[in-house]
Amino acid sequence: MKVKVYPRKTGFTGEFSVPPDKSITHRAYIIGGLAKKEVLIENPLRAKDCNSTLECLKKCGIHVEDRGEKVTIKGDYREPEDILDAGNSGTTSRILMGILSSYPFFSIITGDESLRRRPMGRVIKPLKMMGATIIGRDNDRFLPVAIKGGNLKGIKYELEVPSAQVKSAIILAGLRAEGETVVIEQFKSRNHTENMLKALGAKITIDDNKVTVKSSEIEGFKLRVPLDPSSASFLLTIALLVPSSEVIIKEVLLNPYRIGYFKKLKEMGCNINWEITEWRLNEPVGTVWAKYTGCIKGVKVTKEEVPSIIDELPLLALVATQSEGKTEIVGAEELRVKESDRIKAVVEELGKLGAKIEELPDGMIIEGPTVLKGGNVHSHRDHRIAMMLAIAGLISKEGVEIDSAEWVDISFPGFFQLIL
Ligand code: S3P
Repeated sequence: MKVKVYPRKTGFTGEFSVPPDKSITHRAYIIGGLAKKEVLIENPLRAKDCNSTLECLKKCGIHVEDRGEKVTIKGDYREPEDILDAGNSGTTSRILMGILSSYPFFSIITGDESLRRRPMGRVIKPLKMMGATIIGRDNDRFLPVAIKGGNLKGIKYELEVPSAQVKSAIILAGLRAEGETVVIEQFKSRNHTENMLKALGAKITIDDNKVTVKSSEIEGFKLRVPLDPSSASFLLTIALLVPSSEVIIKEVLLNPYRIGYFKKLKEMGCNINWEITEWRLNEPVGTVWAKYTGCIKGVKVTKEEVPSIIDELPLLALVATQSEGKTEIVGAEELRVKESDRIKAVVEELGKLGAKIEELPDGMIIEGPTVLKGGNVHSHRDHRIAMMLAIAGLISKEGVEIDSAEWVDISFPGFFQLIL
């Protein structure tokens, strides 16, 4: 599907809602499947990635009652009769691998063309060390993987790449392993799995960059999923780049490892603020607002900062094209193994629109400000690239036409209706 985005002539103003958080929805479903009692999830993300998780759980014998705005989960993981398809979702495939490794049955996980190219060795390796039998395509590097789990033993493991998906897979496997499982991170990634398990009474301790978990059982729980700060970032960015705009979004997840983008925007001189108003299962939730003032200046993003801004780096690159001076993003080689190679995608597509942007092996350098002229661009079949390019269209001279724009449905169905 092609979508034409015209330059926006008026401000983008108002109070908006965005989809519920993707990471929290995946975890609520998957951890919900472990609970002894029924679990009620209100306001889960209804988008392709989380639907992939739900479909996999159903195949694993978990009882799912889907009433749209409310989903109840009850069950015990059982051997699936058929292959589990994680679709485009890295979180589904990797976190589920952790859970399934802890059960003494056979399962196979696969995914779409993009997911079958993404690295799985990083999660297979520690799970094998815990005692699971896992075989993956191309020497245990890629999906599909076949798993025969059970009888796991705790390990002490230092993550080789900062990845919340890998960390979560090990922690969840540790919940049903003998002894203690310890995961150490060099740079801390999002900690939703730890927060949720702690709130649910699991034997888990979090000591700075070290998480320790022991065999635990989960009772039932109820959770209303807060809104996704990554999805909110798109609307907030429109407010910051289109003159006369002001956007307010309530009920947003404000976990410190998810709001690196908001902090970076502040450092760039943007008028953006947030306030925590409540907590849900140990997660801070609140209001974010942003107002156009212009006057944005270039900034540096370092390796240490990357995990808390990883999904927003394509958007930051766009903001940098409108900022005074140089923006340098380094230590972000993980971007190359997301739904697309996001370094290549951003450099290629913003380059087509006239941005001064240079590719680095582990990031990019952007010189601003430049006028984006507009033209034909490609989403690289990646939801976040499609949405970033749509915003580029709103601030361009002639508008953009985005190819394969339907990929926004992975995390933000209704995105175009909201912004056009
Ligand atoms: C996610 C973790 C991050 C992030 C992804 C969601 C999660 O990936 O990019 O969108 O829910 O755990 P990595 O774990 O690969 O860094």
